[in-house]
Amino acid sequence: MPPSRVALVTGGAGGIGHAIVNALVAGGHRVASGDIASQQTSGEAVLPVHLDVTDRGSVDQAVTQAERELGPVEILVNTAGWDEFHQFLETEEGFWDRIIELNYKGCLRVCRRAVPGMVERGYGRVVNISSDAARVGSSLEAVYAGAKAAQVAFGKTLAREVASRGVTVNSVCPGPTETPLLEGMLGAGETSAKMVEALRRAVPMRRLGRPEDVAAAVAFLTSDDAGFITGQTLSVSGGLTMA
Ligand SMILES: NC(=O)c1ccc[n+]([C@@H]2O[C@H](COP(=O)([O-])OP(=O)(O)OC[C@H]3O[C@@H](n4cnc5c(N)ncnc54)[C@H](O)[C@@H]3O)[C@@H](O)[C@H]2O)c1
Repeated sequence: MPPSRVALVTGGAGGIGHAIVNALVAGGHRVASGDIASQQTSGEAVLPVHLDVTDRGSVDQAVTQAERELGPVEILVNTAGWDEFHQFLETEEGFWDRIIELNYKGCLRVCRRAVPGMVERGYGRVVNISSDAARVGSSLEAVYAGAKAAQVAFGKTLAREVASRGVTVNSVCPGPTETPLLEGMLGAGETSAKMVEALRRAVPMRRLGRPEDVAAAVAFLTSDDAGFITGQTLSVSGGLTMA
């Protein structure tokens, strides 16, 4: 039986985050689910913690609470993220800042707080949930794609810096995945249905991703068995991106 570890999942109340929390619990881990949204307690193995990744004080409090109640964080999954579809030429700097603060700097803040302990203890697994947009671009998502690409490059660099200390850092890139985020971005009505159909047709496996598809990849990359894999970028998108 693999060892039971302590995990922190940011964005744990969302579509993909919740599936990751469930997968880690199924793997025998104790999981702090950090989110800005309020969360129901869902079983003894899950500790809901209030976490705003755009606020350094909140990140500090959430990691402190998780470590006090569950023990040192050994697995960190940075899932919190957000986007809206806009033509880049119609966006303003305030929007860029919101995207970068959450999708990129949010990941930096949580890593900065949680990874030193992993390095000290000589064991850690970090997975950053990026996006296929980071690898190949995505229309109407210019700033988000840039922030997600920055997250991948950051992860590779951090991976190099901590590799000899037993800590791995990898990125998982979902393609379009059925979650509240995607539903909100696509909106409702006929145009939305057409966009979903176009996305589905673009995927070689002819379906959108499910949160569980992403969670399965995260479960592997955070396992003890994945200890020789670091600095990698794995697309989970039914063959949409083969880069
Ligand atoms: N759904 C997709 O098609 C898709 C595709 C590629 C990448 N992603 C990425 O996957 C991740 C999860 O997305 P999802 O589709 O599950 O979205 P989601 O909206 O269902 O979940 C995102 C979660 O992040 C939380 N969150 C937002 N701001 C936060 C903050 N400041 N601090 C802490 N938590 C915060 C939200 O409350 C929510 O629970 C995101 O990073 C997203 O960019 C999603």
